[in-house]
Amino acid sequence: MGVIDEIKDRIDVVELISGYVPLQKAGRNYKALCPFHADTAPSFIVFPDGQRWHCFGACGTGGDIFTFLMKKENLDFSEALRILAERAGISLSPRTDEQEAQDERQRLLREINSAAAQYYHHLLVHSPLAQIAREYLAKREIAEETWRDFQLGYALPEWEALSHHLIAKGYTEADIFAAGLSVERESGGHYDRFRGRLIFPIHDKKGSVLGFGARALDDSVPKYVNTAQTPLFDKGNILYGIHVAKGAIRDAGAAIIVEGYTDVLMAHQHGYRSVVAAMGTALTESQVRTLRKLTKSFILAMDADAAGKQASLRGLEVVKKHYGVEHRQSPEIKAAYQHIWLKKYVDANIKVITMPAGQDPDDVIRKDPEQWAQLVDQALPLMEYYFQVAAAGKDLGSAEGKSMLVRQLLPLMKEIGDGIERAHYLQKLARLVRIDERTLAEEMKRLRAGRRVEGSVADDELSPALETSPALENYCLFLLVHAAELFGELDELGPDDFVVAENRYIFQALVDSLEAKQTFDVEGFQATLDPLLREHLHALLEDWAKGPSLPEDQLPAEIERSVWRMKDRKDRRELEELESLLLDVQERHDEEGVALRRRVDSLRRRIMEREKVRGGTHA
Ligand code: UTP
Ligand code: MN
Repeated sequence: MGVIDEIKDRIDVVELISGYVPLQKAGRNYKALCPFHADTAPSFIVFPDGQRWHCFGACGTGGDIFTFLMKKENLDFSEALRILAERAGISLSPRTDEQEAQDERQRLLREINSAAAQYYHHLLVHSPLAQIAREYLAKREIAEETWRDFQLGYALPEWEALSHHLIAKGYTEADIFAAGLSVERESGGHYDRFRGRLIFPIHDKKGSVLGFGARALDDSVPKYVNTAQTPLFDKGNILYGIHVAKGAIRDAGAAIIVEGYTDVLMAHQHGYRSVVAAMGTALTESQVRTLRKLTKSFILAMDADAAGKQASLRGLEVVKKHYGVEHRQSPEIKAAYQHIWLKKYVDANIKVITMPAGQDPDDVIRKDPEQWAQLVDQALPLMEYYFQVAAAGKDLGSAEGKSMLVRQLLPLMKEIGDGIERAHYLQKLARLVRIDERTLAEEMKRLRAGRRVEGSVADDELSPALETSPALENYCLFLLVHAAELFGELDELGPDDFVVAENRYIFQALVDSLEAKQTFDVEGFQATLDPLLREHLHALLEDWAKGPSLPEDQLPAEIERSVWRMKDRKDRRELEELESLLLDVQERHDEEGVALRRRVDSLRRRIMEREKVRGGTHA
């Protein structure tokens, strides 16, 4: 976690602001007369859930603790940072020796893993002893080119072959163990973790080796042995194949997520290169964060079993109580919520591929690559998919069937972040069960109103960090810094459009710098920034520079597009915030209620306008 996030983690927005302005509780949120303009009705709202504030009145601004303090005390970012850091009890000192040592350690472990991968790969390609592995690969129709692309390897069926090799290269037994490559003997000493197995090195997105999956060449159990948890290897943030898939994911505008190593291999081998595996059914937050930097469209390949089990989703009340608190409930139900959560917080477009029974993508692609292309084409939008799964096998003519369907779908639907989309599915459900839409809407409202109380699909627990998925605005900032001369055309963009505190202040500094000077150079600009911001910008620029570069003449259009999307996202965010307020003023016709409804209407209109346009220029 960066320093800024850490500070935000420790200082509650409500607590900070209530030191300046008397706050009044309003539902889940707090309201006050806006301290930044002459307010007559309280139009300043603080949202504890998102740790944000917003003025819906004349000034129309909002932000986080940093923005509030800067505005209120008229400070620049560095000053606000110092004050808040002190208040949070966080020191802003440079990296400590201990941190340096940790970094050094990580480098060493990567190096050892990479040496091991080379060793295994070399054996597979050249050693007579690896004949059995080569035959296995041939039997599975995995081409030699694929071995190379994925650096596949073979571990000899011996106890210390790898260890000896690495020790000869100068690594110690303890380091080899720390890298996850050996197992401790009870009697002391170590032996190789992977023996007599096919080796799948697992890389990070930059291509450095973090760990391994190792498949048995016969039916022995376990089928796969994976690297145990190490400081490098954390199952939850690994995406198998990401180092070769990332370019294709960007180009295709979507990531396809499968379950297994061999699924990834076979897909790539047949030219379907935007495929990665998530090492488990539910995507984790950190996997999503990685992918989200590349695309906002996700296509999940679900095996038919999982789909079948989801059809019997039941006891959603149980899920609500247990989700995120205990992990005992069925993984299928958890996965359903995980996906909805993904969509809501990540602002991602999610589709689902249902695999033919008993087959995984590896089987399908090997037999008939065209069929795979079709399955991908026919992937259903997430909610459509749940509709299909839930409706399967129910008699929708009977009262019981209807009620079961509604009870399954409404709780999922209420988690949809986008109000318009929610309305769309409400309509669809109403038609399907032939129940008046208003009745369903009432039921949904009840569910939505109650959600916090029961600690439902833990918005709190899962990722406020993702709510503000920063990929888009990072990208936008990247473009702006590179094309500062086009800036004049951008008066429509303001610091408030950026959600990530660092981005906001970098943007502000950029505007200031462009106003102050005739010429602009990136390095000179970076040098003027607060060290923390400089570091952030540096990482951001590096990150994006790795992507495919954009021809000069496309920059203006690209900038326009990303600004447009930022505006859209901001409106949607505000709409979502307002909709939660709307529940509180539903029946009221006073000034506040009217103003709120007017604002909601205008936001909805703007969003719909954009959706119409999206079919055209901004597709
Ligand atoms: P599968 O059992 O579907 O294996 O597990 P697979 O990928 O299709 O492999 P083949 O085709 O039988 O060779 C899917 C994924 O779950 C993880 C692996 O990442 C695997 O690719 N897994 C499975 C394990 O980590 N350990 C296991 O014992 C089994
Ligand atoms: Mn398989």
